[in-house]
Amino acid sequence: MSDSINQAQTEIPVAVLGATGMVGQRFVSLLQSHPWFKIVNVAASENSAGIPYSKAIQNRRYSNKNFNPEIESMQVFDVIKGIDIISKNAKIVFCALNMDKQQIKDIEEKYAEKGCIVVSNNSAHRWTEDVPMILPEINSHHTQLIDIQRKNRGWNKGCIVVKPNCSIQSYMPVLEALRHFGPEEVIVSTYQAISGAGKTFETMPEINDNIIPFIPGEEEKSEKEPMRIWGKITNSRIEPAQEPLISATCVRVPVSDGHLASVSVKFKDPPTLQECISAVENYKSVVDDFDLPSAPEKFLTYFNDESRPQTALDRDIYKGMGISVGRFRKDPVMDWKFVCLSHNTLRGAAGGAVLLAELIVKKGYLKN
Ligand SMILES: NC(=O)c1ccc[n+]([C@@H]2O[C@H](COP(=O)([O-])OP(=O)(O)OC[C@H]3O[C@@H](n4cnc5c(N)ncnc54)[C@H](OP(=O)(O)O)[C@@H]3O)[C@@H](O)[C@H]2O)c1
Repeated sequence: MSDSINQAQTEIPVAVLGATGMVGQRFVSLLQSHPWFKIVNVAASENSAGIPYSKAIQNRRYSNKNFNPEIESMQVFDVIKGIDIISKNAKIVFCALNMDKQQIKDIEEKYAEKGCIVVSNNSAHRWTEDVPMILPEINSHHTQLIDIQRKNRGWNKGCIVVKPNCSIQSYMPVLEALRHFGPEEVIVSTYQAISGAGKTFETMPEINDNIIPFIPGEEEKSEKEPMRIWGKITNSRIEPAQEPLISATCVRVPVSDGHLASVSVKFKDPPTLQECISAVENYKSVVDDFDLPSAPEKFLTYFNDESRPQTALDRDIYKGMGISVGRFRKDPVMDWKFVCLSHNTLRGAAGGAVLLAELIVKKGYLKN
């Protein structure tokens, strides 16, 4: 552990693949002032390559704040053509590419083969047997799969780790806090922001005064990914959990950022109302002991106010890394129901991936 702390105190060179996109810009904004990591390269498609970052993003800035001058003037590399240079310069690459899944898989594997730790926001590798999918506060122990992956593939320094889909990050932490009561069946409806589709109100005018009841692939991810995160490592692979059974409906709503969820749960051993609230308020994750810079001061916050959490008021809690919970009440069909909220491009995308990278470093997986 002490080696990894020393590594963390020196600046660790990192690169962002897909740096010009919505999630990529979030990565850059979080990493440009990070205490452990220093951006050495930004990369995107060949359309953005060879020009300064400021020019590559000039017509699609997602924040009105400028990046550091050093970043604004950084030349953008082509993700594929620049692989030799980027993998020499950076020890960790953060991936936020939007392209064909097989192409993303290949790119991530090439970077890992060349010795980089690839921390991916993409779904491409979420079900690859030896790739861990980690939500740090819940399954940080799945980092053990990195040793298996390196052995399987003959990689010494490189590896691929992925974060789960943004839609599950509001309700899965609450179910984790309630896990000792045996949640058996879960019905969840998510109300997802347009930034989750990489859109703004300008680029998605059809969402004004509207709700779109279908997000391709989202319900399947929302039902299945929690099972892998709760899974056990047996015979060098993750054996997905069998419970709870989750039924998800995911809809797109006219908000810029923040995915809210309404959840009903049936338990084996139903808790009391006070036990539900205490389990959330007192939830302590193993990550609390790691002292990671991006970990929220408090992971789960319970509001004793029937009108909270609200997307616009609460999505930025603890710099967008906290989860807000409220409205625990009796469910006449199941046992209990509640509402919860997480920030989709921070906790659900770039912030969650940066936290995951910090965990990997802290656990000593970064080698010189
Ligand atoms: N938005 C969210 O809340 C969210 C949450 C979780 C996961 N995700 C996932 O994260 C990924 C990125 O999402 P996003 O919303 O940031 O997408 P985006 O705004 O469309 O950005 C996509 C990035 O990929 C690059 N790219 C596209 N085609 C490429 C190619 N052929 N070669 C190299 N680079 C290429 C783009 O570069 P150019 O600018 O040069 O075209 C850009 O940097 C997606 O897979 C998405 O599903 C998004």
